[in-house]
Formats: sequence, structure tokens, C-alpha cells
Amino acid sequence: MNLFDVYPIFNITPVKAEGSYIWDEKGEKYLDLYGGHAVISIGHSHPYYIQQITNQINKIGFYSNAVKIPIQEKLAMKLGQRSGYENYQLFLCNSGAEANENAFKLASFHTGRKKVIAFRNSFHGRTSLAVAATDDKTIVAPINESDNIIFCEWNEEDALHRIFSTHEIAAVIIEGIQGIGGVNIPSPSFLQKIKWLCDNAGALMICDEIQSGYGRSGKFFAHQWANIRPDIITIAKGMGNGFPVAGVLIHPKIKATHGLLGTTFGGSYLACTAAIAVLDVMKEENLMENASIMGAYLLHQLKEMKGVKEVRGIGLMLGIEFNFPCGSIRSELLHTHKIFTGSSSNKNTLRVLPALNIKKMEVELFLAALKNVLKNQMMNG
Ligand SMILES: Cc1ncc(COP(=O)(O)O)c(C=O)c1O
Repeated sequence: MNLFDVYPIFNITPVKAEGSYIWDEKGEKYLDLYGGHAVISIGHSHPYYIQQITNQINKIGFYSNAVKIPIQEKLAMKLGQRSGYENYQLFLCNSGAEANENAFKLASFHTGRKKVIAFRNSFHGRTSLAVAATDDKTIVAPINESDNIIFCEWNEEDALHRIFSTHEIAAVIIEGIQGIGGVNIPSPSFLQKIKWLCDNAGALMICDEIQSGYGRSGKFFAHQWANIRPDIITIAKGMGNGFPVAGVLIHPKIKATHGLLGTTFGGSYLACTAAIAVLDVMKEENLMENASIMGAYLLHQLKEMKGVKEVRGIGLMLGIEFNFPCGSIRSELLHTHKIFTGSSSNKNTLRVLPALNIKKMEVELFLAALKNVLKNQMMNG
């Protein structure tokens, strides 16, 4: 059997990883400024994480949600404390798209309505409604097309007002910081306006923190920079540092009933252990503070760099925009300097999404390499 060939891949075979580094099968070492797509939060192969998961699998790895699994409550308690959402409820699932699907269902069950507002350049996943709310026609199959999603311009409050005045809205979904769309930051007043409009209309605000959450922006959630509290928050990626685990944080006004949501794998012992280990390491090693400090330094240095048009982002979620498509920059960084970075749907924007424990020396390596690549590119016209 062949693999279904959907991923354009680099000719690199990682066999080992540690901290912010990856080694391939030839022993070549790579600096990882991509974090496996914003997934690696506490660094590759963190010893505490390995130890916790190993201990857990030696006891019990899985049983269904038909029995008591106290480690789920332990995770909910720690997550509530660390994120500032102690009074919210947690539904555990397996991927970002699944978290968003469940968020839409909850909003619709709760309001009895169907219409959802999403934004230009959004990405919310590849399943049913999550992909319908994603602003990329190339990945929306005819069966996914939905009249229930209304796209609105990013950061445009008047347009949002107009949609609310002409439709009965169940929910607005917005990324804490747009990731794949090119690292676009919602203005605090835009987020506040969404919340206000939702509250006024009896709709729910869903904040997709799948990429921007879990400390990446220097606060637990990126929306916390705007001082708002969405009704529903979705999380995945950095939550398990590579172990598939996702969640939906749910306002107490939204009531659970048996059978309303469900999943086979969600909230397994191993997934919860991975997620708790991530929270423990984040606290123990002050990783949100590190994300703030390293992110601010990177942002400042990149803004000064010749050849860079614009830098967007907060903490360790940065988009570096050039005046031209940056595929060749990404390729030279990878093949000549052995540094992984990310692309985005905005072809001119390079994404930087390192582990939250990246060190100053590693940041310097990246800055020196990028400077070199840009100098070469400018020399070669
Ligand atoms: C903001 C955002 N939402 C949702 C998703 C979908 O997550 P998953 O690939 O785990 O389904 C992603 C993945 O890149 C994302 O960046």
C-alpha cells in the first residue's frame, strides 16, 4: 500500500530530537524554529514529559469515557488555574478541527441558531464546519460548503455590525492571532466589539487558540491581551507537545447533558498525562515569561533587519513579511543553514513558531542565518 500523497515534503528524515534541535538519519543537526507547526511547546523530548508518559503507560494507557478517569479532572483543574478560566468546563478531544466542530455544535445547541461569522484568511481545520469556516476554497469540498458561515473582513467593526443587524447569529469564531493566514493580530477593540455584539445578540464568541494559545503569546491565551473572556475557547497543538490532545473550554452558562458531545479517544490517560506534563514544565521553567522575552528580542532585531518589510506577532508567534515570495528564503534557511521555519497562506510571510523554551543563543543563530540569506538574495538580485 502507498501513502495517500497529500503532503509536499522535504527530503529530510528526522530520527531524534531534543530541545529546539532535530537530527536526521545522517546525523545532520537542524534548529527547529517551526516547532512541528506550533506543536512543540516545551521542547522536543523533554525528560520530565518522557518520564511522566512512560510511568503512565506502564500503569494504564486507555479506557473509554464510560469509567471514572480522575486524571481528566486533574488536568481540568490545572488548566483552569494556569489559564485563569477556573470556572469554565473542559471537554477533551483529539485535534484542533474536532475541538472547533464541538464548539460550533455547542453554540448551535445553546442558542438554537445556525449562522456563524468567520473572518477572511481564517483557518479552523479541515473537517465539516471547521473547513467551511476556513477561508481557503481549495480545501473546501462541495459537501463542506455551507450557507451557515458568513465571512467578514478582519478588524472591520462596521462590517461586523452590519452582519449582526441582518442575521440571527449563533456564534463568531476568531483566532487569538491568525496563524496560517500570515500572523495577523486582531485589534483589542475588535475583539471587545465581537464580545459585546455576541452578548447583546445572545450569540457565543468562540476563540480558536489552537495555534496562538498555551503560552505562545506570552499570556496563556492571546485574547487575554485584549482583556476579554470568550464563551468558548478551543485548544490543541502546544497542549500535548506532540501527543494528540485537544480541548474545548466552556463557559458555565452552557449546560452539559449526557450524550451532548462525545469521543472514543478524547481524554485518555496518556493524553491527559502529556497535557499535565506540559503545564507543569511551563510553570516550573517560566516558559510564558521566556516566550515574552525571546519574542520581544526577536521582534526588535527583525524589525531592524535590512530586507524585512514588516514583522507581526506577539511572543513566539511571529510573521516576517518580505516584499517578495519568501519560499527561497525558507529553502535556503533549511538547506544551507539547517533551520526549520514555517510558511503561510500569505506567500510573502515566513512564520516563526519555536518551542517556548528556546534559548537566546538559538535565537541569535537564526538571526545571523536570516541576515546572511537576505544579503545573498539582495546580491543575487
Ligand atoms: C488556528 C487553527 N485552528 C485549527 C487548526 C486545526 O487543527 P488540527 O490540524 O489539529 O485539526 C489549526 C491547525 O493548523 C490552526 O492553526
